[in-house]
Amino acid sequence: MPVNAHYTFPPGFLWGTATAAHQVEGDPPANQWRAWEQAGRVHRGQTVGPGCGWWRGLWRDDFQRAAQAGHNALRFSVSWARIQPAPDRWDPDALAQYREWARTARALGLEPFVTLHHFTDPLWFTEQGGWENPAAVQAFAAFARRVGQALGDVVRFWATFNEPNVYAYRGFVEGVFPPGRVGDVRAAFRVLAHMAQAHAAAYEALHRLQPDLRVGIVLHYRGMRPARAWFPLERLVTAWHHRLFNDFFWHALVRGRLMGPTGFTRPAAGLRGTLDYVGLNYYTEDRVRFVWYPGELFGRHALPAGVPQSAHGEIAVVPQGFYRALAWARGFGVPIYVTENGIDDAADAVRPLYLATHVHQMWRALINNWPIRGYFHWSLMDNFEWEWGWDRHFGLWACDPQTQVRKPRSSAHLYAAIAAANGLTTDAVRRYAAAALPLVFPEAGLAALRADEASGR
Ligand code: FCB
Repeated sequence: MPVNAHYTFPPGFLWGTATAAHQVEGDPPANQWRAWEQAGRVHRGQTVGPGCGWWRGLWRDDFQRAAQAGHNALRFSVSWARIQPAPDRWDPDALAQYREWARTARALGLEPFVTLHHFTDPLWFTEQGGWENPAAVQAFAAFARRVGQALGDVVRFWATFNEPNVYAYRGFVEGVFPPGRVGDVRAAFRVLAHMAQAHAAAYEALHRLQPDLRVGIVLHYRGMRPARAWFPLERLVTAWHHRLFNDFFWHALVRGRLMGPTGFTRPAAGLRGTLDYVGLNYYTEDRVRFVWYPGELFGRHALPAGVPQSAHGEIAVVPQGFYRALAWARGFGVPIYVTENGIDDAADAVRPLYLATHVHQMWRALINNWPIRGYFHWSLMDNFEWEWGWDRHFGLWACDPQTQVRKPRSSAHLYAAIAAANGLTTDAVRRYAAAALPLVFPEAGLAALRADEASGR
């Protein structure tokens, strides 16, 4: 007897995918990433080129694809450099284009989630000192106001920034994102402080235009656990790293305090409570080992051993880490949207397992009554993955930038089944993610095992 079960999500739960302007639009405007690519700073000298052809019109096909697959939401970002090509110039055509995207999404039954800043800055802004310059705050608020005026009647959900901590860490500490500075922790925290202030200013500006808009921020949460829980020093170092990397915006927006490079905080006006929802991006979780080396801040990060990994070994499948991330997001005291979650896996060997087990953990979190309202898988189709260019594959659909042909991976069908059922069913998991069956539906997994044994397989 096959066991059938169904983990149901609340009515109206949002199932979507996430994208970002620079990664999908192609034919980039004058932003700092285009300059970075032209300077040969991306893996194998790659550039975004035509992207996924969205700026040439392919956005429409992809929106339709998402709608046909039963999604009911879509996250995309707008390009600041297109909208404001010079400090004193706004491009009405660019705004009209994004308005068309939002209207079409809505007409297709996809709730549009718009991100104002997803890693890219106009070159003129970079030349003025970028996010290290305090003037960035008002510049960004003016940009947010313009976009709000143009799209505010169509778009209800706004995110000011995508992953400010990743922007600051990769650009100023690791140096793999522009401006490519290494080890400049002080600059990283200056950038974060300005982004927090810019977030608050944009929050106010959007609400002044339309009080009922929902304005949030998208945060990258990197799970961190001590490699040896019995080792007090290791626990301490892990907690410290967690605080520096994950907690900046919790202190800023919940407590109204800005953190400095040592982890201490000081009060700052105007930040507290400027959040209608929190966007959570979760990919994986680290194990942290204590090391006698200040260059790594006394902690070395590695992925946990013995679990499946992404194609290039940068993401380990740790679904319980997602549960822990959701518990953390709950600390903001506002509704939670999972704004990214996914894995680099061109062969789609691990993604079905990843997807099923992560959706399962989200369901576990939901039945505690944690306020989770939607989930966006990263990404709809393969796209330009920043420092790795086209060599990472996060799409539910494969996308070849040369031919612009899209091909659904098995995970696209699994995700469609999840959206159609508004939850996870044994049927869908059996069909598309058999390896996840014993983890997600232990009873059904056991029954399948018995059937195998009985038939001598
Ligand atoms: C996130 C970014 C997104 C994409 C995924 C894989 O950190 O927000 O643009 O690169 O990682």
